Amino acid sequence: MVSRVIPVDRFDLVIFGGTGDLARRKILPGLYRRFVAGQIPEGSRIIGAARTDMPTADFRAHVEEAIVEFVASAKRSSELVGTFLDTIEYVAIDAKGDAGWEELAKLIRADVVQAFYFSVGPSLFGHLAEKLHRYSIASDDARIVVEKPFGRDLKTAQELNATLAAHFSESQIYRIDHYLGKETVQNLMAVRFANILFEPLWNARHVDHVQITVAETVGVGGRGTYYDRSGAMRDMVQNHLMQLLCLIAMEAPYRFDPDAVRDEKLKVIRALLPVAPDDIVRGQYRGQARKNGPDDASFLEDVEDPSSKTESFVALKVEIANWRWKGTPFYLRTGKRLRGRESEIAIVFKEVPHSIFGEEEGWRENVLSIRLQPNEGMTLSVMIKEPGPGGMRLTEVPLDMSFAEALGEEGADIPDAYERLIMDVIRGNQTLFMRGDEVEAAWAWTDPIIADWDARGDKPKTYDSGSSGPEDALMLLHREGRRWREIHE
Ligand code: BG6
Repeated sequence: MVSRVIPVDRFDLVIFGGTGDLARRKILPGLYRRFVAGQIPEGSRIIGAARTDMPTADFRAHVEEAIVEFVASAKRSSELVGTFLDTIEYVAIDAKGDAGWEELAKLIRADVVQAFYFSVGPSLFGHLAEKLHRYSIASDDARIVVEKPFGRDLKTAQELNATLAAHFSESQIYRIDHYLGKETVQNLMAVRFANILFEPLWNARHVDHVQITVAETVGVGGRGTYYDRSGAMRDMVQNHLMQLLCLIAMEAPYRFDPDAVRDEKLKVIRALLPVAPDDIVRGQYRGQARKNGPDDASFLEDVEDPSSKTESFVALKVEIANWRWKGTPFYLRTGKRLRGRESEIAIVFKEVPHSIFGEEEGWRENVLSIRLQPNEGMTLSVMIKEPGPGGMRLTEVPLDMSFAEALGEEGADIPDAYERLIMDVIRGNQTLFMRGDEVEAAWAWTDPIIADWDARGDKPKTYDSGSSGPEDALMLLHREGRRWREIHE
């Protein structure tokens, strides 16, 4: 299979917060990988902007370090890195003051695609948007890119939307949810809407329930201050898990067009029923009694407040009130310091209406498992006859497809979510970005859940690091005669 690199136009990309962690870990190495793939047109420029005063040469050295740290050595050669570094510029800028803005204005060209990545805290969004406008830097077609957290509730999200809308139109605003840039997440749409096979079964008549799991092994150490103000519900469910839910549950858009796709996702969010307190379990990890180092810390040691009631785990049952899904629960679960790093969507189908084989031992329901990470791919479990002369005994076998294997070399070289999304910004394609109304609708659903915890002073259950979460989370499914899929180590 020949790798297809879709060309983009020449661009100036400014990264505000260019010396920050996200730029170092994701944005800059991602841009380098796209450069190696031949996707950065000659004459494009990447301009780091941050508060620190330093010459461009120092920033280039910083970029080189990031490449060495985060890009596989097979993709690096001093020649390639050197040519890439030639595209890099740096401007010291004061987001709240005037320093650096005239210099930036002189640097930015009007005849290329302009993109401004706000890789800074949301309190600076307004200042940056206003300065880009005041110094006449951004053209009418300029794009701005913002990161989560996009607000911490409906009110703050509305405020942020209004702040950006004061200077930019919705078609210029790219709100990143990096889960939408993951290869398998996009494949969800291909699987659903490019195959006749699944659609007839994709509804409450045939799907017993859906499970969405995003399990992580990392804790919150190092970002305890942010996380303690956020928790799993705000950090993961309101955005990443919600987006996955939308892609599973939405109707077919009339075409693969940004607003057509986002209209359908929005309808799903608006159809979500409020969640009853009994349908949610919150948890906090507890380190091992015998500590092996900082990795074994408890949540309460990783955050500043030793009596914190913030959740590092949440499991909940979500219901969608529409014709397609009425009666099919969606179980969502995410947490830190769990048994393994595994993200999976499992569509669990109903049993056959009548088993001609009687009460067969080992009988299982069909499950379509879509793995986001690791080992991205899909597995459909089907029942077959157990081989051999032992009579008609059934056994379950997987129809397994690993994207890396199926696509050969190209599959092994799947671009990182950020790389893909940044290129989509340059291309001007908003399909994989959240629209303002989507974000607000997601908060409108999340807010009452969190407000209820706050009002009741709800305390999360503890769970051991390395486990699958609190016992009560298992009960959430057991009580309905179902069980969670295993989280593998
Ligand atoms: C981020 C969250 O958005 O996503 C983190 O803030 C989380 O807490 C991360 O660890 C998970 O992303 P990924 O791509 O590693 O699954």
